Amino acid sequence: MKSYSVKELLSSNLSLQEVTVKGWVKTFRSNRFIALNDGSTLNNIQCVLDFENFDEILLKQVSTGAALEVSGTLVESQGRGQSVEIQVKELKVLGTSDPDTYPIQPKKHSLEFLREKAHLRVRTNTFAAVMRVRSTLSFAIHKYFQDNGFYNVHTPIITGSDAEGAGEMFRVSTLDQKNPPLTEEGEIDFKQDFFGKETNLTVSGQLEAETFAMALGKVYTFGPTFRAENSNTSRHLAEFWMIEPEVAFNDLDANMDLAEDFIKNVINYILENCDEDLQFLEKRLLDEEKTKPQAERSDMALIEKLKFVAENNFKRVSYTEAIDILKNCKPNKKKKFQYIIEEWGADLQSEHERYLVEKHFNCPVILFDYPADIKAFYMRLNEDGKTVRAMDILFPGIGEIVGGSQREERLDVLKEKVAALGIDEKELWWYLDLRKFGTATHSGFGLGFERLVLFATGMGNIRDVIPFPRTPQNAEF
Ligand code: 4AD
Repeated sequence: MKSYSVKELLSSNLSLQEVTVKGWVKTFRSNRFIALNDGSTLNNIQCVLDFENFDEILLKQVSTGAALEVSGTLVESQGRGQSVEIQVKELKVLGTSDPDTYPIQPKKHSLEFLREKAHLRVRTNTFAAVMRVRSTLSFAIHKYFQDNGFYNVHTPIITGSDAEGAGEMFRVSTLDQKNPPLTEEGEIDFKQDFFGKETNLTVSGQLEAETFAMALGKVYTFGPTFRAENSNTSRHLAEFWMIEPEVAFNDLDANMDLAEDFIKNVINYILENCDEDLQFLEKRLLDEEKTKPQAERSDMALIEKLKFVAENNFKRVSYTEAIDILKNCKPNKKKKFQYIIEEWGADLQSEHERYLVEKHFNCPVILFDYPADIKAFYMRLNEDGKTVRAMDILFPGIGEIVGGSQREERLDVLKEKVAALGIDEKELWWYLDLRKFGTATHSGFGLGFERLVLFATGMGNIRDVIPFPRTPQNAEF
């Protein structure tokens, strides 16, 4: 008998054919109806059996979570809720599941509880739907770039440079931690370490991607990045995935156009390819929102929100304009913000970003031309000498989802910046070389993949959109 996935069976017209399917029991009702799921789709296949034809001991083993192989005839379903079902002729229990200790019972579990069972939570409908959407988004991202003439670059995970200059890096070392070799000055002697220098896990593949853009033209990285920032929020992870395109000859406007087109394209892709899961996640979100006070509920349902972003222009606003709006807005004047905006130059916090997106403009916003002092060293200095060609994209419910810029391509200006920040030029010699040999305007950005998945699935906490989250004090699994 031919083996099929549940998805194939549910979407087939194989009626009256003999089929085999393998999966896990979701529920077993009345000693007669098994709802079987194999992860290929949100929906279960109903397997109907006549208990008199099966051994009692075998049927006792059919409990939630058990792995089964079921064979029988695929027929039109008599019951409601499914078009086809299997009339079971043969049943094999491939792996039992102790009903008394199996944590994923057919009832609602809190997301917090499931985080402690991260190895099993993908067996729930919610996590399976989120992870399928995540996988499809990942594919859509590669497809977008490959269809548009970009080359994928695998930038290194272990690096000797701090691209963002924030110093929030995880050290990579094989030195004896209890008794490291010391220099004459009493400092740790990294010359004796594995790489002969201090190395860390990368915070961004950008600097290396730039070297490739200056040869291959249009490139992108899509890899894990690591930040040892002690941010215990629903938007931060210590290990997250970032997509970083880098394009030679693009200025900031072209960079904004690319980012907007890219995001709209991948959202359209999941709208076209993940309908079932998105509808389920939309319903989940609506149920969750019912428990919140009216004022905190979102005005749009999930799919409507995704379509809104895919169909409408993002609002482009300079940092200076944004500061004017924020300085004069009600929550700032009434001191409702935790951080009051007093003057130009202030770093925007997520409360400010969300005010702009959710209250003022009511659409995704691209902020550009930030003060040089609050941005990374590699961003191109504007003629005014105080702002840089930076851009951040802010999303409703999320805040910053993209950070990018036009890069400083002028060697002398870049060197001055590096010196002013006290960065050792020798550490960046290869990066500076790009400005000596065929330098050109170029731009890129980084999109936090999990923040995109958060937005796409309507989940509220970034820990619930990555298989095994790494956050401060948490690296189980
Ligand atoms: O704004 P960031 O720090 O930009 C860069 O790293 C640049 N080198 C990118 C580039 O121009 N190639 O980070 C980019 C994005 C943020 O907008 C956010 O979406 C995400 O990465 N991000 C995080 N996501 C989850 N957890 C964290 N701790 C994050 N930090 C940044």
